[in-house]
Formats: sequence, structure tokens, C-alpha cells
Amino acid sequence: MKNFNLSVVFLLFLGLSGLHAQERIPQVEALLEKMTLEEKIGQLNLLTPGGGIATGSVVSEDVEAKIKAGNVGGVFGVSSPERVRQAQELAVKNSRLGIPLLIGSDVIHGYKTTFPIPLGLSSSWDMELIKETAKVAAKEATADGINWNFSPMVDISRDPRWGRVAEGAGEDAYLGSQIARAMVQGYQQDDLTEPHTMMATVKHLALYGAPEGGRDYNRVDMSRTKMFNEYLPPYKAAVDAGVGSVMTSFNDIDGVPATGNKWLLTDLLRERWGFDGFVVSDYTSVNEMIAHGMGDLQDVSAMALKAGLDMDMVGEGFLTTLKKSVEEGRVSEEEITTAARRILEAKHKLGLLDDPYKYSDASRPEKDILTKENRQLARRAATQSFVLLKDHNDILPVSKRAKIALIGPLANNQSNMLGTWAPTGDFNLSVPVLEGFKNVAPNAQITYAKGANITNDSVFAKKVNVFGPKVEISDRSPEELLQEALKVAKASDVVIAVVGEASEMSGEAASRTNIQIPESQKRLIRELVATGKPVALVLMSGRPLDISEEMGMPVSILQAWHPGVEAGNAIADVVFGDVNPSGKLTMSWPRNVGQIPVYYGSRITGRPAPTEEFQKFKTNYLDVPNSPLLPFGHGLSYTTFQYSKIKAHGETLRPGDSLMISTTVTNTGDRAGQEVVQLYIHDKVRSLTPPKKQLIAFEKIALQPGESKTVEFPVTVEDLKFYNGQLEYVAEPGEFEFFVGGTSDCEMQGSFTLVE
Ligand code: BGC
Repeated sequence: MKNFNLSVVFLLFLGLSGLHAQERIPQVEALLEKMTLEEKIGQLNLLTPGGGIATGSVVSEDVEAKIKAGNVGGVFGVSSPERVRQAQELAVKNSRLGIPLLIGSDVIHGYKTTFPIPLGLSSSWDMELIKETAKVAAKEATADGINWNFSPMVDISRDPRWGRVAEGAGEDAYLGSQIARAMVQGYQQDDLTEPHTMMATVKHLALYGAPEGGRDYNRVDMSRTKMFNEYLPPYKAAVDAGVGSVMTSFNDIDGVPATGNKWLLTDLLRERWGFDGFVVSDYTSVNEMIAHGMGDLQDVSAMALKAGLDMDMVGEGFLTTLKKSVEEGRVSEEEITTAARRILEAKHKLGLLDDPYKYSDASRPEKDILTKENRQLARRAATQSFVLLKDHNDILPVSKRAKIALIGPLANNQSNMLGTWAPTGDFNLSVPVLEGFKNVAPNAQITYAKGANITNDSVFAKKVNVFGPKVEISDRSPEELLQEALKVAKASDVVIAVVGEASEMSGEAASRTNIQIPESQKRLIRELVATGKPVALVLMSGRPLDISEEMGMPVSILQAWHPGVEAGNAIADVVFGDVNPSGKLTMSWPRNVGQIPVYYGSRITGRPAPTEEFQKFKTNYLDVPNSPLLPFGHGLSYTTFQYSKIKAHGETLRPGDSLMISTTVTNTGDRAGQEVVQLYIHDKVRSLTPPKKQLIAFEKIALQPGESKTVEFPVTVEDLKFYNGQLEYVAEPGEFEFFVGGTSDCEMQGSFTLVE
């Protein structure tokens, strides 16, 4: 009764004071009433007992005892209905208040059914598909006891040196925002109490994808207008979609580490964006503020809490210092109560306070995990993620009756198919390319030869192999491997070379300054081409690569990323033409590392270069053109598409109205195919230097041979808005050019005027 009255009084106070706050949850308030300071601090502590892949040097000790003592709010790295039940029992039956645990996990691109790496998935430009993969990931993970996911990662990046571009959706804030929303909706759907859904975490707030030099964990420095316009929108989109939690990033922003950055976590996230979930740190990122130069553990823990951080991942800074800080008056109990309330509210949203064992149904894994349907989805998702970069002489698709030389270090490999950061997957379940070829083309004559090591550099290989052997250097000499492959190639009709990066050559703490295909494989490719046989490269990587040399060769190139558990089958589907490739790049591919950052939406300078030809005193390079090797939005098909009747239905747009821009797209080839129709604008005059082009809409359509479809994009004033110098979200009246096509490198088609 007392609690009830208290919450009513509080709500009344909020109402009277005009404050806008989330409605208090009586069950949570009742718990808070009973909690000691220590128990509240306990809720702010997230631990991992280890055993899986730890991304820091620390793993937690005495987790069991700490749970019993009420010192733990959540754990990660614990899975299976039985183990999760045991963990919950420790909390529910042994701690004084019996509060159940959040059970977290990194379910980044599928749980056991591993989908393509996120950068690959983003290349599908298919929001329904992406949502579906998240939904299946949630179904599998929750069947195994997980209720809280550390995904989606929505960090925009224009730097392919940074290994974690593999985990994101590329360079564009608009596309990234659509994907952020689709993933949150897929994981959470519209009911978090439903046992097949899990709470999502948008990460890493903020700007983690823009480290200087592309070196992971490095500092970030960026203007407010750039961050608001080009980097923050996907995090905001996830918040708008109702994401349950937010993870901070390792980097600093304006010199203050994100984990202790009050402007970021309170002024922006809570006050400006209205986020009402909880904020978790990244792995020991509270403690890392010591190395950042913010003080000792007590200082940085107090700073993080006061900035708006609610939960401390692994580092136990909150657990070990906050009480002292309260006693010394450095933080208030109220601040701790606020953070604890947010954790308890998350548990309430998940329905855990009513049923702590709802994710511990031992019958579910068998029914829900790695089902035939899930694997089919993984196969489809992989085929949709592939991007046909180039098709010299239509080498692809290949006949199912051909004599095929299947060459390359990734051609008969399992350990690299899942891609980076698939800790819940099992690479032993993945389909190697050779096996997929045999499944899809049983009548083809396929001969396999490794041809080369992923790299011959054993020192480099050792760094890549931290989570197990991804790069295996053969006992046979490079020369012997090469000669065997050339013999196989010469006896074939066509050569398919599966080459590229090992999975752990991208991902966390896997930045590279040379982003070419390793030299061992480049040599193999050169020699294969020199045989005069038709050569198609199936390229795997977790990032855009510098493939200037290979693009100049008479080869076809299919970019396959790291395709996931159905890798071989999906690649075979596309190589043999059962599926027509339709992916489009979501990051520009540079001509060389010196061009980085290169992206389609850069702002126009005072000395723009009018053409690709070098001109003195214009912004260009002496040695390469400004354009990337392969632009954002690029991707070919086995068929061809023609765009016609591109027009704006009117000359002016008024606020409140919409202006239709439409085009007719025709499949002019002889195969069914899909095309991603893209609409870009360019604001001619505005108060901040405008980007050259800005994606504002896209639609993926399917067309039979000879078929035409009209695609209509209704443009409203919302699509023309940007953050001005005062960080107000506005559209400024004036002329806008528009561009329509199947790549960001499309032509200007006309203009319209926004009137007041
Ligand atoms: C990564 C996060 C991840 C966390 C927990 C960190 O190193 O940056 O993305 O969620 O580890 O595994």
C-alpha cells in the first residue's frame, strides 16, 4: 500500500510539474523500495563467466557467489535452457530479493543459423529480409535462454581499414537508419514479453566507426554538424524504433570518452531523443577511462554514472566504488536508484519479473534452432548479399555441365565461412564452396586445388588466428600449390577462384593498412589469368578491398563477403545462375588506401573537380581520379535494366505536400532479375555546404525478362531536412536536383523547388 501511494504521489508530482517521464511501474517501484544501496548497485553490474570469446583481457571471477549476494544485474556468455535456468535460480532462489538476471549475448548475424556478415546483409538493400534474419536470430537465441542481444551495430564508417566495418551497414546514414530500424523490429517485434523476442541493444554510441587512421579504439574527432547529419541518424532511428538498450563506444567524443560523456548520454540520448531504456557500457569501457586520462577507478565510475551510464560491463567499477562515492557525497543515492530503476524496468518489459524461467524451456532448442527453414533463409540471405562487381565476357553464370577448376584457399574451407563475430555459430556446420558446387551442379566436373595459402606470412597468420586456425599455412611449398592449381586450371573450361580475406582479418581489433588481397593469392590470380582460361573470382572479405589490379584483369568478380552457414550452397546458386545476383555495395571501394575516406556523399568544396581528368588548382590527386574504384550503390546483374521516363511530377514542393518522382525500369535482358532503384538529391543552396548527393529513397524490384515497372517516390519536406549550424532539423527553401539510377554514380535528371 505504501509503495502504491508513493508512486501515485510521484506521478502526480510529474503531472503537476509538467515533466515528461515514463510512467512508473508499480512492481519496479515496490522492489526499489525494498532495496539496499548495495542491491541497487548490484543491478548495475554485468558480468561474464568467460568460456566463450572474451573481447577484453578480463573475465569475471566468482560470478556464482556474486549473483547469490545480489551483486549482479545480468550476465553474458551463458546459454542453453539448463544453464540459464541454473543462473536464474542462483539469483531468484539465493539472493535476498530474488531478482532475475538479464541474459545477454552477441547475436550479431544470426545465432546458430549464421547469416552473412552485416555488411553483406546490408548489400541486399532488402529491409524485409534483414528483419526476417533478426527475427529468426531472436527465435533461436531465446530458445537457448538469451533475452538481451548486443545488436544492432549501426556505426557508420567510411574507412575500410577499420575491421569492424564488417559488422555495420556501411557508409550511408539514410540506408543505415532503415537497417537499424529493421533489425530492432526483427529482434523485439512489438511485444518483448513474447518468449520468441529479445531486447535489442543499439551500439556503439557513438561515432565508433570513425577512428583516426581506421585503427580500432582510436580517438574520434568530428564536428557536431557532421555527426548529426552523417553519423548519428542510425542510432536515433533505433531509439525511435523502441530499442530497449544502448551500448556506449570505446572512443572519446570532443575529448570525453563516450562512456562518461554527459552530453552524449543525457543531453542528446535522453533529453533530445527521448530514450527511456537503459545504457550499458562496452566491455570494460568504464575502466578504460583511466587510460583515457580521466582519473582513477572511483573517479571514472562516478563520472560514468553521472553522465547517464546505467550498467557497467565486466569492469566492476560501479560494484566496487559507487558506495564509497555515495558516502563521500560524489554521487547521490538518487542517481543510483535511477539507474537501477532502468535495469528493473528492462526486466519488467521482458516479463522476467513475473516469470524468470520463461527462456528456459528445454524443449525449444530442438524445435527452433537450425531448422530447415532457418537454413533456407540463411541461403537466401546470402545469395541476396552477393554483389556482382564485374562480369567480363559474361563468364558468370557458369554452365552446370562445365568442366570447372575450383581453386583457392577459401574454396574448400569451413572455418572462414561464418565471418567475424559469429561467436554463437559453429563453423563445422557451414557448407564449403566445393560441397555447395557438388550439391547444386552434380553433373559438372569439378576439380579442386588450394592453389595458395590465404597468406604466406606466418607472423600475420598468428595474429589472425587468435580464435582458432583461420589461416592455415600448408606444409607444401607455395610453388607446389600453385603448379597443382595451374595444371587443374589448364584442363578445365572455366576457373572459379575463391579468394580473399580470412574471417578474422576483419572484425574487432583487426584493422589493416594494406587492404589488398594478400600477395600469395594475388600471384595465384595472375597466374590463373595467364593460362588464358576464363576466370571468375569469388571474393570473400569483411570490408571493401583495394582490388584495382584485379578489376583491370579480364575476369569476373562476385563479392561474397563471408556468407554464413549456407556459404557454399548460396555461392553455387549464384555461380550457376539459379539465383541472379542483385546486391549493391553499401560502401565505396577505394582505388587505393591513400584515397580513404572516399564516399559518395562528400561535401562540395570551393574548388570542385569538374571531370576525372586532373586539373591544377582543383581538388584532385596527381595519381588517381577522385572517384572510387567502385561506388556506393554499385552492383551488376546477369540481366540488364533500362531506366526511362525519369521525371518529377511538378516543379515545386510545398511543406505538407508531396512531389512524385518516378521512373520506369525495364528488364532488357533474358533472365529474371532484381534491381535496387535509388533516388538521390542535391540541395543547391543551403546554409551549410551540401553533400554532392544524398540518398533519400530506394526500392528493390523484381522484373521478368521484358517486364517494366514504374517506381514512384513521393518526396516530402521531411526527405529534404538536415541539421543546420544550430543543429535544428530543417529544410531550406530553394532548388533541389535529383538523380535516379541503379548506382550512386547516376546522372542528374532534373530539379524541383521547395517553396515556403
Ligand atoms: C565489443 C561489443 C560487444 C562486447 C561484448 C566488445 O568488445 O565492442 O560490440 O558487444 O565486446 O562481447
